[in-house]
Amino acid sequence: MAQSRHTESSPIKGGIVLSGHQMLQVQDVCKTFDGGRGALEVLRDIRFNVAAGEFISIIGPSGCGKTTLLRILHGLEPTTSGVVFVSGKRVEAPSPSSAMVFQQFNLFPWLTVARNVAFGLEVAKLAATQRKERTDRFVRLVGLQGFSEHYPHELSGGMQQRVGLARALALDPDVLLLDEPFGALDAITREQLQREIAVILAQSPKTVVFITHNMEEAIFFSDSILVMGTRPGRILEEVRVALPRPREADAVRASREFATMREHLWSLLSQGDKAA
Ligand SMILES: Nc1ncnc2c1ncn2[C@@H]1O[C@H](COP(=O)(O)OP(=O)(O)O)[C@@H](O)[C@H]1O
Ligand SMILES: [Mg+2]
Repeated sequence: MAQSRHTESSPIKGGIVLSGHQMLQVQDVCKTFDGGRGALEVLRDIRFNVAAGEFISIIGPSGCGKTTLLRILHGLEPTTSGVVFVSGKRVEAPSPSSAMVFQQFNLFPWLTVARNVAFGLEVAKLAATQRKERTDRFVRLVGLQGFSEHYPHELSGGMQQRVGLARALALDPDVLLLDEPFGALDAITREQLQREIAVILAQSPKTVVFITHNMEEAIFFSDSILVMGTRPGRILEEVRVALPRPREADAVRASREFATMREHLWSLLSQGDKAA
């Protein structure tokens, strides 16, 4: 199956052009879990590159290994074989070069919004004044000014996910890893946060790997979509999204390219649901 590699440089949103070097390199990653009921092969021969400033999505059915793959990219989970590089450095443990946003927010319930956002900066031993400045900036960026001293249980799901996003962005990672960040949100909040993230990324561009099982979301955000099949998780195809930026959600949805791509993704996904 086609697994094209990114080679060209990537002009990105906001008119800023970053060098086209590969920010993320995933080379022949395989993962097998050894459980009580025998070995479970979850990922087979995953390989792809993401250039600096590129936004790629990974879509695939539940259980195909998306979260496992993201955890491997972040260094939370070892590979069985294969290697991952971020900025040319091999990933072997979590490091500040990547930051992850989780579906279930994963905030510390006993810390305020500001302390949650500042947490990674404390770990990185940033000086107090810088920490405060950065925390305030990212709390504002995600629209949570006035909520700095609130605790997670005092916030809606959408607001908690904004905290998760601010926490990740404040670390200024080379690669931002998003694991179905809208998955636990209602449709309206989801759409609102989607639009806001598009604006945030235009203001502070990042290399992003975004996991979703929502095709429209994947098309709207991505330069490229990796479609995964299941049993074992593998990449069926990489689909480039050639829609011009900046993108407007309604215009994208109404376009002919969108309909064509959606149909293609559907056919890949229904074919990928069958075991290899
Ligand atoms: N720590 C683990 N030990 C054993 N099996 C696991 C572990 N983590 C995930 N799995 C299994 O790996 C498969 C892929 O899971 P996951 O990566 O969460 O898929 P997805 O995010 O695509 O839904 C599932 O069958 C899941 O049960
Ligand atoms: Mg998952």
